[in-house]
Amino acid sequence: MHWKTKALIQNLLSILPSQISYEVYYKVQRICGGLRRVNPIIGIKDGITIVRCIEGVEKSVDDKVFVEVGTGRTIIIPITLWLCGASRIITVDLNPYLKNELIQEELNFIRCNKDAVLKMFGNSVNQKQFNERFDTIVRGKLDINGFMKESQIEYIAPSDARKLHVCDKTIDYHISNNVFEHVPLEVMSQILSEGKRMLKDDGLMVHRIDFSDHFSHSDHRIPTINFLQYSEEQWLRYAGNRYMYHNRARIDEFEEIMENAGLKIIDKKLEIDQNAVRLIKSGLKLDKRFAGKPDEINSVLNDLVVATKV
Ligand SMILES: C[S@@+](CC[C@H](N)C(=O)[O-])C[C@H]1O[C@@H](n2cnc3c(N)ncnc32)[C@H](O)[C@@H]1O
Repeated sequence: MHWKTKALIQNLLSILPSQISYEVYYKVQRICGGLRRVNPIIGIKDGITIVRCIEGVEKSVDDKVFVEVGTGRTIIIPITLWLCGASRIITVDLNPYLKNELIQEELNFIRCNKDAVLKMFGNSVNQKQFNERFDTIVRGKLDINGFMKESQIEYIAPSDARKLHVCDKTIDYHISNNVFEHVPLEVMSQILSEGKRMLKDDGLMVHRIDFSDHFSHSDHRIPTINFLQYSEEQWLRYAGNRYMYHNRARIDEFEEIMENAGLKIIDKKLEIDQNAVRLIKSGLKLDKRFAGKPDEINSVLNDLVVATKV
């Protein structure tokens, strides 16, 4: 589907009253969008990448407490963290998007593709505990509520990650996956400050941001930096709705916000789209907000940032 057609549909659906709009949008995604076939592989990969980043700075996830910002429709990231040893995962979302039928389908997928999923994890530090937890999924005896209780995954929605009922300095890791690109920059800054309040002094922030134009995920005719060509006003006309809002912040702005929130970046895993770099060098005209930035900064596809409190 052409991205402008998709933008039009999203804009039309977003003017319906919230509850109806959410339900209709979900149905559309289930029938002809990204939720047609449930496949948790990407979510498991993202969860494992978060775990490996934590281990990469000599920390462990074993017996640790996580707060995840922006759950979305499923809990595949919390499930992955639990399998890897986390003791408690509080996952919060401003919107109650979670769907039990999707969680069920993801768990069924894991059951039916047991060997392939096991291979993704490799050997974990605590193999006995991992096997026991994996068996809980494979046996499939629990309903979703029972499973969430067993795995200590606490879903809180609607709940704003700018203000959570979690005590000071009680969590080990504050994480998010594909969330910060969707919130206004001042909100991002407030979420980080709240995260810092909850983090233990030796805790970590691990945030993954997708800097690409999300329309390019389904319309492969446009480049990942397509949206950088538009003025703020033009872009908001296409995507200034609850389904596609993207702040278009580049990695330099994101890092500045982290530093201003009193955080120190200690590691990052960047992916740069070389095709985007080539397009800019060959004359693609960017909006003035981006035109003065280095091509590589504008072309960052995604980043996983690990930060500590200063
Ligand atoms: C694109 S979804 C990402 C979902 C999931 N993390 C994933 O990787 O698929 C972004 C989520 O962030 C949530 N969100 C946005 N602002 C938030 C806030 N201030 N507090 C909590 N959640 C928020 C949205 O409701 C949405 O469900």
